[in-house]
Amino acid sequence: MAPAEKDLAALTTFHEPFPAEGSNPADVVAMLDEFGSPATVATTGGRYFGFVTGGALPAAVGANWLAGVWDQNASLRVMSPIAAELEDVILRWICEALGLPMECEGGLVTCATMANFTALATARCALLANAGWNVVDDGMFGAPPIEVVVGTEVHASILKALSMAGFGKKRLTIIEADSQGRMRAEKLPRLSKSAIVCIQAGSVNTGAFDPAEEICARAHEQGAWVHVDGAFGLWAGISPKFRHLTKGFASADSWATDAHKWPNVNYDSGLVLVRDGKALHASMGMSAAYLQGGTKREPMHHVPESPRRARGVEFWAALKSLGRTGLSDLIERTCAHAQTFAAGLRNAGFNVLNDVVINQVLVSFGPEEVTQEVIRCVQQDGTCWCGGTICQGRTAMRISVSSWVTNEEDVQHSLEAIIRIARECLAL
Ligand SMILES: Cc1ncc(COP(=O)(O)O)c(C=O)c1O
Repeated sequence: MAPAEKDLAALTTFHEPFPAEGSNPADVVAMLDEFGSPATVATTGGRYFGFVTGGALPAAVGANWLAGVWDQNASLRVMSPIAAELEDVILRWICEALGLPMECEGGLVTCATMANFTALATARCALLANAGWNVVDDGMFGAPPIEVVVGTEVHASILKALSMAGFGKKRLTIIEADSQGRMRAEKLPRLSKSAIVCIQAGSVNTGAFDPAEEICARAHEQGAWVHVDGAFGLWAGISPKFRHLTKGFASADSWATDAHKWPNVNYDSGLVLVRDGKALHASMGMSAAYLQGGTKREPMHHVPESPRRARGVEFWAALKSLGRTGLSDLIERTCAHAQTFAAGLRNAGFNVLNDVVINQVLVSFGPEEVTQEVIRCVQQDGTCWCGGTICQGRTAMRISVSSWVTNEEDVQHSLEAIIRIARECLAL
């Protein structure tokens, strides 16, 4: 799973002085393969359960190679018609598949962190525009205040995005969550005129979904903007079996998600969607005499970056190769594997801390030190890879089943290893 010590030590080979002379390109690539390949982590295998890491679908890998050779700048349509066209297709497909408003505009970014940032910066501009303030012209100096509401289990990337957009962590209104990390809608206070409420579709720890229907209704009554961090959970909306969990999220104003998580598109691949396309353009658009676009959607006006790789190529390839049924099967299969993990761990006498609603399992092996030791030994053993977390004060091992490759055999093999290691650690 993780590289061997000797392979990590060999990475010093790269730390040579900047070569005065060039090298043969084939030798350069051969060196990368010789010393680089052994120092990678096997995240594309079926037994990697760390973070929320999808594998890379074959069509996406092939498309990525092709896109690498094309080396397109997906800034303006004139620079890459294929990149711009595929973005149009992806945006339409995703809105359709996830039941989000078809009028949404959006953009392809590196990750959910950037998608959160793009949406929150847009919300800021739009709310301040409603208050008669132009952020683009006048900046934030002396701007009317914006209230930002998050739940106690908000993902760290929202906090980072908020701080990048000029909202301090100490200025947030934090709403209590229940035992699964769901924001308690009834605790939502009376909001100020300009407010952003950040809700979550899929907690990184428990996989739980905030009660979107109730929160959106209450927030909208008061004129607030609702942003959804749906880095992976939003994709549950494609499955008839899990769609109920995403109920109400379509009423929000903006959404952030990742293609490199559950849809198994290779890194880096995130997506932002905003109901009010004009607001997105107003906050992310830029103009220069030499950057003349056409009359159709221009990718660069919807994201923070201007020059950007054509990440829509592999995103499109993944969606095309899976289709609705394939993506829905992937979601349902990984959730079923999570249930198998949870049942196996419970049967072995261990404490599964969360209601396993989607593909995330949190397990405790007793005292904090024992759980930490089990995580360390599982990583060292190499049968599978799981990371750790602290959820509502409790230390846990996280099992996130996110890869298309994982099969029943991987799950059984990993379960056996985890249980064996946990018993050994407890016997010490
Ligand atoms: C709920 C949630 N939001 C945001 C993120 C950040 O995603 P990324 O690492 O792609 O920026 C994650 C990552 O796991 C997540 O689970």
